[in-house]
Parts: sequence; C-alpha cells; structure tokens
Amino acid sequence: MIKNDLYLRALKGETVERPPVWMMRQAGRYLPEFQDIKGKYDFFTRCRTPELASEITVQPIRRFGMDAAILFSDILVIPQAMNIEVQMKADFGPYLPHPIHDQKGVDNVVIPDVNIELDYVMQAIKATKDLLNNEVPLIGFAGSPWTILCYCVQGQGSKTYDKAKGFCFTNPVAAHELLQKITDTTIAYLKSKVEAGVDAVQIFDSWGGMLSPVDYQEFSWQYINQIIDALKDDAPVIAFGKGCWFALPEMAKSNASALGIDWTITAQNARYLTGGNKTLQGNLDPARLLSSPAEIKKMVRQMINDFGKDKYIVNLGHGILPNIPLENAKAFIDAVKEYRST
Ligand code: CP3
Repeated sequence: MIKNDLYLRALKGETVERPPVWMMRQAGRYLPEFQDIKGKYDFFTRCRTPELASEITVQPIRRFGMDAAILFSDILVIPQAMNIEVQMKADFGPYLPHPIHDQKGVDNVVIPDVNIELDYVMQAIKATKDLLNNEVPLIGFAGSPWTILCYCVQGQGSKTYDKAKGFCFTNPVAAHELLQKITDTTIAYLKSKVEAGVDAVQIFDSWGGMLSPVDYQEFSWQYINQIIDALKDDAPVIAFGKGCWFALPEMAKSNASALGIDWTITAQNARYLTGGNKTLQGNLDPARLLSSPAEIKKMVRQMINDFGKDKYIVNLGHGILPNIPLENAKAFIDAVKEYRST
C-alpha cells in the first residue's frame, strides 16, 4: 500500500484534507543534481539505464516532497521502438533524421513487442518502485498519438507543425494508419508499464491545441479515447491536452480519471465545461514560477480556492521551465502542503 495516497484519492474523486501536488517535467533541468547526471551521460543512456532513470525520478521527491513521482523517460521512446530513428540534440531538442512523408514511410513503421524493445522502461519502473519504498505513487506516461505523429512527420519541434498537419490533410488514409499503429503500440506499452508497477498513467497531448476543434476530434481525441478505454480497468488515466480547452466537454464524457489543463482557461470555466464532476489537474502558467516565492504562495492558495480542494490536483499548466529558481519551485509545493481550507 502507498503511504501517501492523496494523489490516488483525488483521482477517485474522494474528499481530501488538501489537494495533492506534483509538477509536469519535475524530474529535470532546473535541478542541479539532474545537471550532474546530465553532464556524465547522454539523454537516451539516462533513459535506458534503470539505475540512472530511477535516481533522476526520485531526485525531485527527495528535495521537495511532491505527492507523486513521474518516471524519467520520454514520449519519443515509442517512435524509437517503432523503427523510427530519434536523436536528442543538445540545445536543440528531438531530431528525427528520416521523417515520414508518405504511405511507404508508414508501411516501414513497426508495431514492436514492447516487452522486448522497451524492457528497459519496465526495469526502470521496478528500480524506481524499490527506491520510492511505497512513499508516493509513481506515474507512467506516453505521448498522445497525434503528438507523436507531430515529431514523426515534422522531424523536430515546431511552432506550427505545418508538415504534420499537411500530411494529415493531404494523405488522411496514411495518417490514420500511422495514428492507429501508434495507438496500438501505446496501449500495449502502458499496459506493460502498469504491470511493471506504475500506479497511474498520463497521456501528454502537448500539441493537440494546434488543431481546430473539428480536426482535434478526428486526428487526436478519438485515439486518446481508445487508449483511455483500453487502460481504464488497469489504472487511472489522466489526459493532459495543451491548448485543448475547447474539447473539455467531450473529454469530460470519457473514462479518464482526470483531465489536465493549461493556464489559458479559468478554474470556473474549466469546471463549467467539464460539468463540475471530473477531477482536474493544473494549471499555473509555468512562467509564473519566476514570480517571488511570496507571490507564488498567494497564487497557489487562490488557485486551490478557485478549483476547490476536492477533485483537484495542483500542477503547472505545462512543464516546469529550466530557469526556475529552486526556492520558487519549493514555494509552489510548500503552498499546497500548507493549505488549510477556511
Ligand atoms: O518529470 C519529468 O521530467 C519526467 C520525464 C519527461 C521527459 N520528457 C524528460 C526529458 C517527460 C514526462 C517528458 C515528456 C515529453 N517529452 C513531452 C510531453 C510533455 C511536454 O512537455 O509537453 C514532450 C513533448 C517531449 C519531447 C521532448 N523531449 C522535447 C521537446 C525535448 C527537448 C526540450 C526539453 O524539454 O528539453 C525533450 C528532451 C527531454 N525530455 C529532456 C528531459 C529532462 C531535456 C533534455 C535532456 O535532459 O538532455
């Protein structure tokens, strides 16, 4: 049994003393202890070595005591396992030297045996569970099929994902085939992760908000929904969509245990669009952690009052930025732990 189960109770919608808190991308570049390891090993070595991945996962928990840990890994291990080369370039980000642009490219994509190709992730989960010693739950994750397609077709990060969209709009048959291959792989992958020990799974649709509401349903949401339905009896599923507030009414009808939202929507409107009964996770602007610790604490208290302490998981609206001072990250976490409803 997990000693601090606040996060799991919030996912069930139970009444809690205070909401749980964690930060997207909490295992990362703003931490000096992370930088130490980063200086010694390249990105995919860190992902593939269970001792390193587990150590990086618990670093933020040791320092700040969040209510949940998220496994150190990346959404791009999936395309890598599907026979698509993925590099992580310093000061640039992901780079895929052979992006997909036609049916032939989709034909070359393999649906792997995740227990072989991604066994290193399962080993990292087991090593992390040992280190965590049941103190807090462990979150596993995957990218949404659309967000993964963005990288596979665009070949790198982008402000517009114009090539990815162009592929979907000019070759929808091939695009849907690729999305389905990614969906099938992701379902098998997340099921294995749950078997290896993760307590919940989050789907990151980081680039869902690039699509129009109609295109979002066709190219993103229907695949996320397949994953949710396939996983719902194995573990709680959290669907995070960056810029996807327009889809919240549809998302609220799903079997997701919680919905993650970014900072472009008020708590009141998010509650309204989701019918008031779904657990929500978010949504401080990550750049707001550049404010003073005192201001951060005030904003966090206001945010909890606005969402309500129940059916709520405190988080940022997207990943923590690399230039956030440690005392500011600490103020964010502490403000939640110090929260008392009045
Ligand atoms: O809390 C955690 O840090 C858990 C691990 C985690 C990473 N990536 C490690 C990482 C998680 C949950 C991710 C998810 C991820 N990866 C997403 C979805 C979440 C989001 O932020 O929208 C996306 C889009 C990616 C793809 C990706 N990986 C990009 C765009 C980059 C480069 C930009 C960046 O953030 O540095 C990465 C590299 C990456 N993934 C790093 C880390 C800690 C930094 C590079 C490094 O450590 O060498």
